[in-house]
Amino acid sequence: MRRRELLGAALLLPLDALAQACGPLTPRQTEGPFFRTSTPRRTSFIEGRASSPLVLEGRVLSRDCKPVANALLEFWHADDEGAYDNRGYRFRGHQFTDAEGRYRLETIVPAEYPGRTRHIHAKAQAPGGRVLTTQLYFPDDPANARDFLYRRELEMKMPKRNAGIFDFVVDA
Ligand SMILES: [Fe+2]
Repeated sequence: MRRRELLGAALLLPLDALAQACGPLTPRQTEGPFFRTSTPRRTSFIEGRASSPLVLEGRVLSRDCKPVANALLEFWHADDEGAYDNRGYRFRGHQFTDAEGRYRLETIVPAEYPGRTRHIHAKAQAPGGRVLTTQLYFPDDPANARDFLYRRELEMKMPKRNAGIFDFVVDA
């Protein structure tokens, strides 16, 4: 009996390895002190003229690379002076991925605030799945090197200065 159990475990290993072919789960990071619930549902945080616009887009994927439709995404970040809106909902909002697991957020490049490099907070959750809380970073930002939370795996790809791409990999 014991031998059969061991064989079973050995057979599971390669399958698990295949399932991770998409890459590891997106690393989790602290939500920080400024998260707020009950945000508006919207795909744009732009109100009026944006001095430094940013379009962030990408997909939510399962560990085996399948797009996750109707995944909940929550974004929040500092304004262009490095301040969070802790009374209202400026630069805060949630949205859901489309049938191909895609999302798109129109916003601005947040400013740094004391002690941190530039970053965007995010939560991603497949329907019925566990909430993944993390933070996204800007590549080649000199402040990344001295930030205590920065991780290279959480950098957006930025083909242009005002375009960020990031795919979340979640437990679906
Ligand atoms: Fe923050």
